[in-house]
Amino acid sequence: MDNILVTGGAGYIGSHACKALRAAGFNPVTYDNLVTGWEDAVKFGPFERGDLLDRARLNEVFAAYRPVAVMHFAALSQVGESMQAPGKYWLNNAGGSLTLIEAAAAAGCQRFVFSSTCATYGDQDNVVLDEQSVQLPINAYGASKRAIEDMLSDFGASHGIESVIFRYFNVAGADPEGEIGEFHQPETHLIPLILDAIDGKRAALTIFGTDYDTPDGTCIRDYVHVCDLVDAHILGLNWLVDGKGSRAFNLGTGAGFSVREVMERAAMVTGKPVPCSEGPRRAGDCTKLVSGSKRAEDELGWRPKRSTLEHMVADAWRWHQSGHYAK
Ligand code: UFG
Repeated sequence: MDNILVTGGAGYIGSHACKALRAAGFNPVTYDNLVTGWEDAVKFGPFERGDLLDRARLNEVFAAYRPVAVMHFAALSQVGESMQAPGKYWLNNAGGSLTLIEAAAAAGCQRFVFSSTCATYGDQDNVVLDEQSVQLPINAYGASKRAIEDMLSDFGASHGIESVIFRYFNVAGADPEGEIGEFHQPETHLIPLILDAIDGKRAALTIFGTDYDTPDGTCIRDYVHVCDLVDAHILGLNWLVDGKGSRAFNLGTGAGFSVREVMERAAMVTGKPVPCSEGPRRAGDCTKLVSGSKRAEDELGWRPKRSTLEHMVADAWRWHQSGHYAK
């Protein structure tokens, strides 16, 4: 069985990727520092604790497993926090990725599937965000991810690294079998916060800004189910194994939902009202991020199956009610 090094395999998306990799016949080796991940989420392959910035530890892990590819999820990913503490994002995301890429290149591991973001596009009103769109991030998180895309391209030219770059839109939902799900500490993402507010785990949800230039004044996002997202990663890995070369793909559905629409849908699915209040805008938020491309469908054959808001909220709600990872 081929080993795949999964950085951030103890996190939300990484753990779902490990499950999908295992089902596809690979051995996912999780490399995670457990700063935002959970050891209990590592269920589908070996666990190696380590930091992206620790080159010696990375060398050890590459030598022990000789992975045929890296799936690189490990990152700090809060847009709001990145505006308060940009240094953390540049050091951990950009610096950590540079260390990882250099370690991979030195070990002769030349395939990367990289978790990038639509936040690299920035705020481009009324522009269809396809893979050719100019990347003008408006927050440090997006800027750090764009820098990693550039690194992969440079190491492609210098060391033959081949990369499939996935620019995620907003990832939501949970494993429908209930083995793993989303749990951030602190939680900042809209759907889990809505579910917390619904069942009284926290106070009312604050809507960050009601004066955006959108039909109901709240931000619009394109939500994609985590299981569909990781399915694309398996296709991306096979793309590289088949020698098809470096390529960037958006992962979104092309449908945009406002914060209020997500709240309404959550109330419908759970049958409970969402306690909420209105607050000011959050620094770094784009007005509208909706994927305008079908490249992943056309070229990878990606077919999202669970990416309706109903499925995403229902799966997240089931996970939410089942109890979370031990601390
Ligand atoms: N929101 C609220 N109240 C909250 C939390 C969020 O109104 O308490 C709003 C945000 O302002 C935003 C929307 O809900 O308009 C979604 O916010 P999230 O924090 O759930 O997600 P973001 O869009 O900020 O960021 C997420 C990921 C990033 C990724 C980005 C792409 O965290 O990694 O999606 O849009 F890059």
